[in-house]
Amino acid sequence: YRDEPVTPSLDRAPGCPFDPAPSLTALRAEQPIARLAAPEGAPGVWMITGYDLVRQVLADPRFSSRYETHYHPLAGGHLPPAPVGDLTGMDAPQHTRLRRLLAGKFTVRRMNLLTEWVTEITRERLDAMERQGPPADLVETFTQPVPALMICELLGVPYEDRDRLQSFTRALSDTAGAQYAAFVELGAYLLELALAKRAEPTDDLLSDLATGGELTDEELGGVAAFLLGAGLDTTANMLALGTFALLRNPAQLAALRGDPDLVAGAVEELLRYLSVAATGMRGVLEDVELGGRQLKAGDTVIIAINAANRDPARFADPDVLDLRRSAAGHLAFGHGVHQCLGQQLARVEMRVAFPALLTRFPTLRLAVPAEDLSLRTDPSQVYGVHSLPVTWDQR
Ligand code: HEM
Repeated sequence: YRDEPVTPSLDRAPGCPFDPAPSLTALRAEQPIARLAAPEGAPGVWMITGYDLVRQVLADPRFSSRYETHYHPLAGGHLPPAPVGDLTGMDAPQHTRLRRLLAGKFTVRRMNLLTEWVTEITRERLDAMERQGPPADLVETFTQPVPALMICELLGVPYEDRDRLQSFTRALSDTAGAQYAAFVELGAYLLELALAKRAEPTDDLLSDLATGGELTDEELGGVAAFLLGAGLDTTANMLALGTFALLRNPAQLAALRGDPDLVAGAVEELLRYLSVAATGMRGVLEDVELGGRQLKAGDTVIIAINAANRDPARFADPDVLDLRRSAAGHLAFGHGVHQCLGQQLARVEMRVAFPALLTRFPTLRLAVPAEDLSLRTDPSQVYGVHSLPVTWDQR
């Protein structure tokens, strides 16, 4: 290992919108755990880009999820603690309690209803797109509303409130200031809704949480807002960036159109290849040796999930989108105790939405040159596109 700290750029290469930043790829080959340059007096910060090491960190309780243990090099300080209800910012035993409670509400019966809901929601959105005619922004007309409406079904948000909710959810993927305001407003609305459901329960996850007696009111609003936030931007960007990636890989697109049995594996490969939740952080709770490096209590590690999912030591020809490969073991949903709680919901959405879109619009194509698309390059955001202008031939 080289001893001098590194300063990798997080910028992706122009013209390669789906690949991790070249400097992360180079780092993975040279030193899959590398010390980052930090100002005098700051805690040690490490960048982890190798698959095995990322997986190891995610499975080890000596690496903390609590935001206040994460030193943010760009901000030059530690992050504030997670808002109430944000599971990704908690450790055991508080995390274990909330996680078990929530997992118990994702019942088999409820999960079985998902396919029915997403089929219906997808059909409605595609009908609307067809009625409106080309061109369309796929993000606004399809990839945002489908996951938003799915979470509304799951939580039990009444139909008459859904337009109002959509304006909050659009703001959730906006600038940091607008995001914060939207999150507060959303939490307040969902708590109000949950309290109404406590008085008059309906058959949905929010009613279960409200009547279970296990959550404080603050936790109730917080958990509901967190579920909405966690399930939205991630899935929406997988659908949008996934469509973009398929349009850029016509042979793969044709394979998927030609073989409906390919869809489950294709979704896993798109998850691996795109890794929209690209990075994560953990705080080091005690001195630990990792990959031959000595980490100290108080250090911070940044895990590059996107670089790990392209590690040639784990996936052959990792930079090739190959819908027929087995992408099992990818880390796009994380790993360990925080592994995505909504992954079944996300998978069902993608398995239905991609084929439905491609079947409805066999001539779907970008309406602008690919280089003109505006990518979500802010590293604090889920990766993806701000908008996806598409067009098609009308029948
Ligand atoms: C956690 C990715 C969809 C709910 C996570 C984590 C990742 C992730 C990487 C782990 C975070 C960490 O370790 O700090 C994704 C991706 C999605 C997706 C790529 C879409 C393709 C959803 C959906 C829901 C959801 C639809 C819906 C309810 C959650 C929750 C957690 C989580 C509750 C926190 C689990 C915990 O900390 O115990 N997700 N997610 N996600 N996700 Fe997802």
